[in-house]
Amino acid sequence: MKALAQEERSVLLSLRNELTVRYEEFRARKLSLDMTRGRPCSDQLDIAKELYALVDDTSFRSANNTDCRNYGAPTGIDECKRVFSFITGIDPSLIILGNNSSLSLMYDTLLRSMVFGEIESDRPWGNETVRKWLCPAPGYDRHFAITEALGFELIPIQMNSDGPDMDQVEKLVSSDDSIKGMWCVPLYSNPDGIVYSESVCARLCSMKTAAKDFRVYWDNAYAVHHLSLKNRRSIPNVLDLSVSGGNPNRFYVFASTSKITLAGSGIACIAANTDNINRAKKQLSLRTIGPDKLNQLRHARYIPDQKALDTIMERHAAIIRPKFDAVHSILEEELGGLDIAKWKKPEGGYFISLFLMKGTAKKVVEAAASAGVLLTSAGATYPYGSDPDDSNIRIAPTMPSLVDLQTATRVLAICAKLIAVEQLLRD
Ligand SMILES: Cc1ncc(COP(=O)(O)O)c(C=O)c1O
Repeated sequence: MKALAQEERSVLLSLRNELTVRYEEFRARKLSLDMTRGRPCSDQLDIAKELYALVDDTSFRSANNTDCRNYGAPTGIDECKRVFSFITGIDPSLIILGNNSSLSLMYDTLLRSMVFGEIESDRPWGNETVRKWLCPAPGYDRHFAITEALGFELIPIQMNSDGPDMDQVEKLVSSDDSIKGMWCVPLYSNPDGIVYSESVCARLCSMKTAAKDFRVYWDNAYAVHHLSLKNRRSIPNVLDLSVSGGNPNRFYVFASTSKITLAGSGIACIAANTDNINRAKKQLSLRTIGPDKLNQLRHARYIPDQKALDTIMERHAAIIRPKFDAVHSILEEELGGLDIAKWKKPEGGYFISLFLMKGTAKKVVEAAASAGVLLTSAGATYPYGSDPDDSNIRIAPTMPSLVDLQTATRVLAICAKLIAVEQLLRD
């Protein structure tokens, strides 16, 4: 037994030497590569370059003759609501358009609940002494940060391959009326690329909650962001499904064109059933005399129909698919078949979620940083930035060039192996 252990140890020691040499070679190159955030690259932004020319000083009126330069149309112009109907499958009458960021609509919606409560609330959420929020994890760090900043206790929910663990969710929400809501990224989740199954969606729509004003924040950020349009995945329309589930007021749906047109100059939307949306319209009428309708007009002209949307998304996929493929092939080459890493091949979205040997993710991120490769901090994909297994790393392949991405992934994989070997030698 001991002899075998010694043999293993010497194999590990020689592996460590080999990996250290490779790591130091990369370090000597003084790299400066950034894989921290899921931003579109400039080639993707260039796809939308014709957008700029679609409105000028002779073409600023919407189809119903609204002068888009002026105040007015506080919920947005009809032809741009139609664009969001292509994206989300939701009826345009249930859509309110904002400016460029869906995240800011989520923040504002939560703030309105803090100040005014929801339709069924006894008091504003801000007046609740204890308030809690369900956070499927791994998940989107900015979601978690919003609910944390607003004083919610964040409850992590296990993510399964078909969405959040619904047994856990149902058990929690049925017994605790301080749980007011839940984050969901139902299609190509950030970071795992998981697609919620019909059964998970149906259970979210029909589950009994102790809080009568429970809300699901359905962030459909990657609604049309398929890596192959031929094999596109879809999710049910939860606004319809929640009616048959007996909870018609349960969902707020969010989407944006950030990763369809321009991440800094797109359009975002919130959608909900008639009661919620009418209430939001009333509240929002105090907040603005109208959003940026010239940009809405540009977007409506740029995406006049479903076919135009598909063509744009095909072009995005053509740019980013090779990047996703490159990450997979390097991970496979370096880490495939080893017990120290697993990851899935997402069919859409913006991320690849890598699970490393428990207790190593932080050290791997540090080692990669000292070789000039910046990754999203380990733990960021969990509530409070704390991954109980210290295992998950989010890879964002879209922004770097293909060559940089290949180098960065190679460095990441070498660091993952080196830190794992060091841990094994210590154990
Ligand atoms: C799940 C998710 N929601 C929202 C956003 C941001 O959306 P927006 O640009 O519309 O604010 C992102 C950006 O990465 C995201 O991953």
